[in-house]
Order: sequence, then structure tokens, then C-alpha cells
Amino acid sequence: MCGIAGYIGEKQALPFLISGLKKLEYRGYDSAGIAIYNEGRIEVRRQVGKIAELERSIRGQVIEGTQGIAHTRWATHGMPSNRNSHPHRDSDGHIAVVHNGIIENYLELRNELEDKGYTFTSETDTEVVPNLIAEYFEGNLLEAVEKAKARLRGSYAAVCMSQQDPDYLVGIRQDSPLIVGYGKDGNYFASDIPALIGHVDRYTVLKNGETAVIDRDGVTIYVDGKAVEPEVMELTMDIDAAEKGGYDHFMLKEIIEQPRALKECLSGRIAYGKRVIDLGELKLDAAKAEKINKIVMVACGTAYHACYVGRYVYEKLLRIPVEVEIASEFRYRDPILDEHTLTIVVSQSGETADTLAALAEAKRKGSHILAITNVWESSIAREAHDVIYTRAGIEIAVASTKAYTTQILAIYLFGLYMAELKGKMIRREIQTIINELYRLPEKVQQIIDDNLDIIKEMADEIAEFEDAFFIGRDLDYVVAREGALKLKEISYIHAEAYAAGELKHGTLALIVDRVPVICLCTQRNLEEKMVSNIKEAQTRNGQIFSICFEGDTLVPAVSEHVCYLPKTLDLLAPILTVIPLQLIAYYASVKRGADVDKPRNLAKSVTVE
Ligand code: G6P
Repeated sequence: MCGIAGYIGEKQALPFLISGLKKLEYRGYDSAGIAIYNEGRIEVRRQVGKIAELERSIRGQVIEGTQGIAHTRWATHGMPSNRNSHPHRDSDGHIAVVHNGIIENYLELRNELEDKGYTFTSETDTEVVPNLIAEYFEGNLLEAVEKAKARLRGSYAAVCMSQQDPDYLVGIRQDSPLIVGYGKDGNYFASDIPALIGHVDRYTVLKNGETAVIDRDGVTIYVDGKAVEPEVMELTMDIDAAEKGGYDHFMLKEIIEQPRALKECLSGRIAYGKRVIDLGELKLDAAKAEKINKIVMVACGTAYHACYVGRYVYEKLLRIPVEVEIASEFRYRDPILDEHTLTIVVSQSGETADTLAALAEAKRKGSHILAITNVWESSIAREAHDVIYTRAGIEIAVASTKAYTTQILAIYLFGLYMAELKGKMIRREIQTIINELYRLPEKVQQIIDDNLDIIKEMADEIAEFEDAFFIGRDLDYVVAREGALKLKEISYIHAEAYAAGELKHGTLALIVDRVPVICLCTQRNLEEKMVSNIKEAQTRNGQIFSICFEGDTLVPAVSEHVCYLPKTLDLLAPILTVIPLQLIAYYASVKRGADVDKPRNLAKSVTVE
């Protein structure tokens, strides 16, 4: 949700600012801008649209300077337009700021500043920040930023520079991510690691409340005005992690990376000593696990759908009641939980504002918090009592794919871990599931290798319609929800998922004129029931696309298009069933000419409420 980049060093700033923004474009792409300082002046260029538009608008212009800041926006306050784009400056134009987050008290600050004669040119909350800094500026940018920061309420990651006190950039952070990178020929700010790959070999993730000053010689981190020793980490990822690597889109690359991501997620987590599942140093030990009598799972978007898989799996394996909630609802609902409740928060980015706030609420109520996240040292990872990292690797496409399957895998692993701790399953039962978990990466690979033609055919047909319905029962129903989300978010086809048995209670009225009905049929004990539900849809002239296991004959007999999956345990089917659904959404989006990686109005990391 908005991407920030900053550089100060020996090289020209512009190339990094543009390339860094491109790596952060998944965070928002309504408008973009840069501010570069050179010989006493800050030059600003801003352009509504994607970063390519900004590039086009400055082509041929000489914008020299070895320090600058940049921003790609996902609009919250003020529609996407040139004047609402960042960087924003104070009325006199000597301070420039890029910001990610929401300044909640901006109206109060704006009124106060307007009364003092400051003028505003945008509808954004951000514009109060440079003006507030200007109000406190007495020749020292750092001091002015610290004073302004004390007045800000809300969430922010911001980078500021001044033409009256140049030669350094100041970054501040509260509830929105900001990373400082240490390079050989300069120092950097970025909202996320991908922007820094290839430029720095070490980095520090700024903590809430910290201020960072970067200049040509180094980095200083301050807490309450005092310099502190930062935790510096090695950046070991290579450039390929953040590039398309020959694929047309990041989404396709990330779908295809799933076998590897799943192997990574499994790696080292199965032991053969005292316990079968080794999840590292979890604080949730046998004594604590014994007292857990309820599990609450909280997340947003695709991660929320992964939680639903968790609910079905945990209730089957652990026989403990599991509640699943959308984070933005949970936090304001005064949820009922206590020290006997385990709260599991799931988040690819580890920065989603609503999920973070839900975590805080559950923690306040005494619940033990387990985070399942993909991002090392993210805010959610830091705030939780325990963390399981999904190890999916960087995910850039807005539509989440490999994050989802690895979240589900982590959910299984934790379920088995708990089953072992609480004595709910014997070792042999656990071992049977584990053996099959190990085979999942190659089965995912098999789906990608063998089924692409039928999946493309299905996608081409579905792409012709404006509506699609996904149905399934039990674990198939929860995956159907993710399939519908994928299709609607990137192809803009209206898609809904229903529990197959519920269709006849309303939605069947919409099954007419060969509308696509995508039927997931992997839960063997419910197969006959599914066949009846498929027949109900077919009789109403629905066009049936089915996904079932190899060897199945009942479902194909009532379907027009069938995608066969390699067999696995019903319990583990979600990791396989979702693969064709991801690919159907992908190819339907391509067929309809949509921007697959950057669907309209969306962003990957939602750091505002
Ligand atoms: C956004 C993204 C989704 C993602 C959701 C939750 O809506 O577009 O792909 O599932 O946020 O993000 P998280 O990082 O918390 O998993």
C-alpha cells in the first residue's frame, strides 16, 4: 500500500528511484513521483498512472542529483491525480516528503497550519507532514522531523528531505514498513526488500517509533532522540527473486514456483526424534497446548481463505472448535477470547493493518498468538508470541498464489504438531499424512506439466462470460472461495463461491444460459452429494467445469470439461485443487486483456484500515 524509495550516495539518484519504484509497484500504482535534490534545489516530477507513465513524462529531461526520494501511490485521501501524487512539499517548497499510511489527525493539523498561513494544493493527508516540518524548521531537518512526528497520529512510513539542510534524508516509521539499506556507493530507504536487491548487501528493518538518518557515509538510527545500535541483517536474495525471469507475468512465475516453495516450507520441519514435527522454538509447549480449548484464526483476503482451510483441518484433527474471522471485523467486535484461546493470524506480508490490529486485540485479551507469515521480521512476526514462516519467497503479483499454498502447508504442519502435543493422533496416523505432504510438491508439478491445455481451454471458455459460480462441499467449498476471489480480482468476471448444498436456496436462480459452474469434487465421502448438486446446475443449463481426482468416473459423467488431479488424501486436496483455479484465473485474465499483476483498484500490501 504505497511504495517508498530513497537514495543518497555517489551515483545519480534517478535510475535507482525509478527501478526501486518498479519493484514496489505491487504496493500501489495509481500515480508516482520523484524529488531529487541538486545544487540548492529540489526538482519534483509527479504523474498520475503507473510508473511507466512517470518515466514517459520525464523522458529526455535532465534531472541530475545524487539524493532523492520517490513514491508509488495507492490512493486513500484524494483521488489519483497529479496534484495528489507524492512527493508533497510545504508551501515554500523547500521540504519534500513521501509517505505511506494515513495521518488520522490531518484535518486538525491542516486547519491549524492554514490558520498560520500555510497553503495546501492537494486533498491528501500527507501534505500536512512537510508543512508541519516547515513549521518546526529552524535550520535542522532532523530536529524539525522529530518535533513534527510527535504531532502525528495514525500510521506512517515517511522519508523527508530539505533543500535548506540537505546532504541527508530522514525516515520515520509507525505501523507501516520502512527498510534502511547499506550499499557500497550510498545508502537507501525502501518499503520492501525487492527494491534493494542488487543495491545493498545489508539492511535494517526500522521499528515503530524509530527515526533513521542516512547520508553518504552511513546510517544512524534514533530512538527518542538517542542514537541506538541497529539490528543489521544480510541481504542474501539474488536479483532473480524480484524479476519475472522470462515469464510474461509475476503471477505465472509464482504459480509455477509452487513446488519449490512447498519444498522450502517443508524443509527441516519433519524430525524423527522425540517428536515428528519440528517447528523450531515455539513457546506453545505441551503444557500450554493442553489448556487451549478454542482456536481463532484471523486474516484478510487470500490469507483469510487459508484460515478457512485451517478451520476444517483443525476441527477434524484436533476436535477443538475453530472460529475464522476477517481481521477488519474481528478487531471491532469485542471478540470473546482468553488465555485458553489460541489466535492464529495469517498474513503473507506480515504488515496488513487490520490483521496487525486484530493481533493486538487478541494479545490484549491474553490469547497466545501464533503468526503464519512469509516476511521475516515483519510487524506481525514481531508482535506474535510464535511464528511459523511460510518460506514462499518474495511474492510480487497482487493476486496471491504461492503464499496461499504455503500458508495451508504451514497450517497442516501446525495442526499435526498440536495433534502430537495434545495426544490427539498416534504417530502412525501423523506419519501417513506427512508421507503424503512430502509428495505434494511433485503432484503440483504434475498438474502444471500435464493439465495446462485443458486448463487453458476452460479459461478461454470462462473468459467469455461475465459471471461464474464455484461450488464444492467441505474442504472443496473453502477452496472454491479462493478460486472465486482469484477469478474476480484479476479478470473482473463476477465470481461467487457457494457450498454446493446451498445453491438451491437462492443462487440456482442465476444458473441459466450456460453460465460457468466450476465444481470442486475431491472429498470422496461427499462425491454422490456433489454429483446431485452438479446435476441440479446442469439441468438449469449451467456449463459444468469439474476438478476431480484421476480415476473418478461419477463426476466426469455429469461434466462438460474436466481437469484431473493426481490422487492425494482428501484432507490435503486443497493444495492441489487450487492450482487449476489459479491458472484458470490467470489465463482468463490474459484472454480478457487485463493487467494480471496489477489489477485495477487493488494493492498487495494493505497497510491502511
Ligand atoms: C491484499 C492482497 C491479497 C492478500 C491480502 C492480505 O488484499 O491483494 O492478495 O491476500 O491483502 O494480505 P496479507 O499480506 O496480510 O496476506
